[in-house]
Amino acid sequence: MEGEILKTVNLSAYYGKHQVLKSITLSFPENRVTAILGPSGCGKSTFIRCLNRMHELVEGARMEGKVYLRGKDIYEMEPTTVRRKIGMVFQRPNPFPTMTIYDNVIAGYKLGGIKLKKTEADALVEDSLRKAALWEEVKDFLYKRGTFLSGGQQQRLCIARALAMKPEVLLLDEPTSALDPKSTARIEELIQELKKTVTIILVTHNIGQASRVSDFTAFLYLGELVEFGATERVFTVPRDKRTEEYLVGKFG
Ligand SMILES: Nc1ncnc2c1ncn2[C@@H]1O[C@H](COP(=O)(O)OP(=O)(O)OP(=O)(O)O)[C@@H](O)[C@H]1O
Ligand SMILES: [Mg+2]
Repeated sequence: MEGEILKTVNLSAYYGKHQVLKSITLSFPENRVTAILGPSGCGKSTFIRCLNRMHELVEGARMEGKVYLRGKDIYEMEPTTVRRKIGMVFQRPNPFPTMTIYDNVIAGYKLGGIKLKKTEADALVEDSLRKAALWEEVKDFLYKRGTFLSGGQQQRLCIARALAMKPEVLLLDEPTSALDPKSTARIEELIQELKKTVTIILVTHNIGQASRVSDFTAFLYLGELVEFGATERVFTVPRDKRTEEYLVGKFG
C-alpha cells in the first residue's frame, strides 16, 4: 500500500492455549488515523500491544507472525527502541502521581536514563504540551502535580508524554472512554491535528468516534480481521455482514 508505515503479517496472539488473534495481516497508512473497531473482548487491546512489544510483557502471552515498522521487523529491534518509536496512551489517564506536570512530560527520558540539558528539557516540555493542546492551560502550573488536572487534561498530559519521545506511531487504546463529552471532543480535535506529524492507531468501540476521526477502519470480530478499508466506504457499504450488523448496533 502507498505510504504504509506499519504492517502486520499473519499475526496471531495467545494467552496460554487461548488464541485471541487469528492471523491478522494489515497495513497502516502513514499520517492517517486508523480506527480499530470491534466489540468488547474481540482482541483490540491485545492487537495493539503486539504492535509495540507490550504483549510479550504479559505473563503467559505469546505471539506468532510479523510486525514491520518501515520494513524492519520490530521483533529484531530493541524493545525500548520500538516503544519509543511506537508510543501508547491508555484508556485511563495515568500520569505519574508523584511527578509534576513538567516531569511527567519528560518522564520517558528520566526513566530511560537519558539526560537532557535544562534548556532542551524546557523546550521539549513546551513543544510537547503545545502539540497536545494543553500548554495554555498549564503553563503557569508546570511544577504542580499532574494529578491535580481534570481527567481530560490528564489524558492530554499522557499524550504530551508520549509525544515527547517523538514517536512515529501513536497507539491510543480507547483514550476517551473515561472522559466526559467535552473532553472527548477536545481529544478528537487533537487527533485530527496530530495526524499531520504522527500516524495514529485508535482503538475504540465508539462507532461515532471512528466515523468522525478516522481515515481508515479495521473491524475485528472474535480475533479475526473481518474488514479493512477507507472509513467512509466501510461505514456506507460494508462488505461483510458482521461489519454491517455491528455498525447498525445489532451486537457489541
Ligand atoms: N492478560 C490476559 N490473560 C488472559 N486472557 C486475556 C488477557 N488479556 C486479555 N485476555 C483475553 O483476550 C481476549 C481479548 O482481550 P482484549 O483485551 O484484547 O479485547 P478488547 O477488544 O480490547 O476488549 P475491550 O473492548 O473490552 O477492551 C479476551 O477474551 C480476554 O479475556
Ligand atoms: Mg481493550
